Amino acid sequence: MNQIIDLRSDTVTQPTPEMRQAMANAVVGDDVYGEDPTVRSLEQKAADLLERPAGLFVPSGSMGNQIAVHFFTRPGTEVVGETQCHIFNFEMGAMSALSGASPRPVQGCIGILEPEDVEKAVHPTTGYTTPTALLTLENTHNLAGGRIMSPERMDQLVAVGRKHGLPIHLDGARIFNASDALGVPASRLARGCDTVMFCLSKGLAAPVGSVLVGDETVIKEARRIRKLFGGGMRQAGIIAAGGIVALDTMMTRLGDDNRRAKRLAESLAEIPGIAIDPQLVDTNIVFFRLRSKDQTAGDFAQELARSGILVHALDDDAVRAVTHYHITDTDIESAVDAVRRAVTPR
Ligand SMILES: Cc1ncc(COP(=O)(O)O)c(C=O)c1O
Repeated sequence: MNQIIDLRSDTVTQPTPEMRQAMANAVVGDDVYGEDPTVRSLEQKAADLLERPAGLFVPSGSMGNQIAVHFFTRPGTEVVGETQCHIFNFEMGAMSALSGASPRPVQGCIGILEPEDVEKAVHPTTGYTTPTALLTLENTHNLAGGRIMSPERMDQLVAVGRKHGLPIHLDGARIFNASDALGVPASRLARGCDTVMFCLSKGLAAPVGSVLVGDETVIKEARRIRKLFGGGMRQAGIIAAGGIVALDTMMTRLGDDNRRAKRLAESLAEIPGIAIDPQLVDTNIVFFRLRSKDQTAGDFAQELARSGILVHALDDDAVRAVTHYHITDTDIESAVDAVRRAVTPR
């Protein structure tokens, strides 16, 4: 078989040679004692990037999100967020399991929340409704196909949260893809949010980890919660070193991923049997649907895999393809050719 073209996720990225070198040479210490200089340096770099006072290196994006949820909520409270957001759907119910909080989903328009809808979902503490403790936003929105909420929309949503005295957490797993696409700093997109989580291990291609940033008080307590959740790591500078190289060298190439995703979407739109609106592809995630009722997404993904192209089958008819560091222009052409062969025409 030809070389595999893995479009399942940007989490499949391998560390660069420079990352491996930095990891081999990293100066480390016991990070649970706060003695790992490489981790400290990554945390400060991340905090500076997002223009926040402090940062905390965490093993995964999910843990970063759940630490924020735990910090801001109490058992019996609600978290308002978009129906399809990662925190509600893909973190194993951690919000209720670890924090006793429940989701209050608000349907967005392909990932984009309307401020009025968020406003309606907020419950005051009347004594008989479940009180709202947190507003969570996701930008870019994974399940909506990497869609971006504009800085203006972010401002409006933050204003709704503020009006009701709610803290705001931003799941910015891929915030730098949004920042590149918009040409605005990530800190602008995150303006007004109390905490922001972003991932090093997706488009930035570091092997492990995410960072949660916020003010000193949140991050001090987040450190305790990280330990509570089993995320206290010892000589974590080994992996943090990869994260530092990721921030220094990989940020500027995210635009290539965004551009290739658009190219993929435009080519797929020309294939009978595929339903996709390339206009909705803002960053590096491409969702499309199969028009034929005779072929499930699972069957289609299996057929495609025979040509060495891996994609993620979601519902019966939905497929996700994600561009990343290892995907070239030629790979996009090969993937489109393979889709043309694998898809059942309508
Ligand atoms: C939007 C979003 N948030 C959070 C996460 C969680 O990241 P991790 O897989 O590191 O837990 C992901 C992972 O894909 C994601 O897409």
